[in-house]
Amino acid sequence: MGLDKRVALVTGAAKGIGFAIADRLARDGARVFLADIDAGLVKASAEKLAAAGFEADGVEADVSSLPAVQAMIAKAVERFGQLDIVVNNAGILRASRLEEIPPEEWDLVLAVNLKSVFLVSQQAIPHLKKSAAPRIINLSSNSGRMGGFETSVSYAASKGGVIALTYALASQLAKFKITVNAICPGTTDTDILKDFSAEARERLRARVPLGRLGLPADIAAAASYLASAEAGFVTGLMLDINGGMWMG
Ligand SMILES: NC(=O)c1ccc[n+]([C@@H]2O[C@H](COP(=O)([O-])OP(=O)(O)OC[C@H]3O[C@@H](n4cnc5c(N)ncnc54)[C@H](O)[C@@H]3O)[C@@H](O)[C@H]2O)c1
Repeated sequence: MGLDKRVALVTGAAKGIGFAIADRLARDGARVFLADIDAGLVKASAEKLAAAGFEADGVEADVSSLPAVQAMIAKAVERFGQLDIVVNNAGILRASRLEEIPPEEWDLVLAVNLKSVFLVSQQAIPHLKKSAAPRIINLSSNSGRMGGFETSVSYAASKGGVIALTYALASQLAKFKITVNAICPGTTDTDILKDFSAEARERLRARVPLGRLGLPADIAAAASYLASAEAGFVTGLMLDINGGMWMG
């Protein structure tokens, strides 16, 4: 995809889909800055990429906090001198039943999954404006499309919010040539499913027409395309990567 040393910030990049995206963008030629609330793991993950010969660094950041987001972006720009691609990937799932969701859980899920996209994008704008090919890529979800199955309404609402926010940012930022798109993964095999029983996972798998759960690499391939020069005329797209689980 030829990212040619462009600088990509990936949030929630210590593991799972975020790490797969960081790894893929690095293989495409980007310099990658990994951020995650898990300080130890994000350092180790960045070191793994650096050991493989890529330009990579990692930092602890809670993307739901404005001061933490400001510090994260300052460190990325300090480290690599510019910022071209922002991947808003950090996210959490709380699978509580509707009747049992405490308001604090609702607030946390909305803060980590939705407010963070606003905060990181807003703080990145001054740097993206200077980029030759600026990109924002947000992680929504199949749940944001159709309300979710085994997930909870807080998660679905947050991911629906990411879809609307992506449209709004795409409209607002087009004048700066910043493209803003979202990926809507179906159920993807990562630690986010760690509390799901084998039966729940099988129910989810059985709903996928292509017959398997998604892999982080399936989602990373979509991010690679949206980050590429070839996607320069694509903005406001919801890219569904879900094995046919939802067709819009
Ligand atoms: N796995 C799926 O089935 C699936 C489906 C649709 C969408 N998604 C979305 O993809 C993204 C990645 O999910 P995943 O499956 O890789 O999950 P994961 O749990 O494997 O990884 C999420 C990462 O985000 C980090 N994180 C959590 N809170 C954070 C915070 N406040 N600040 C910074 N980092 C934080 C975690 O430490 C972790 O490293 C999420 O936005 C998720 O909602 C996942």
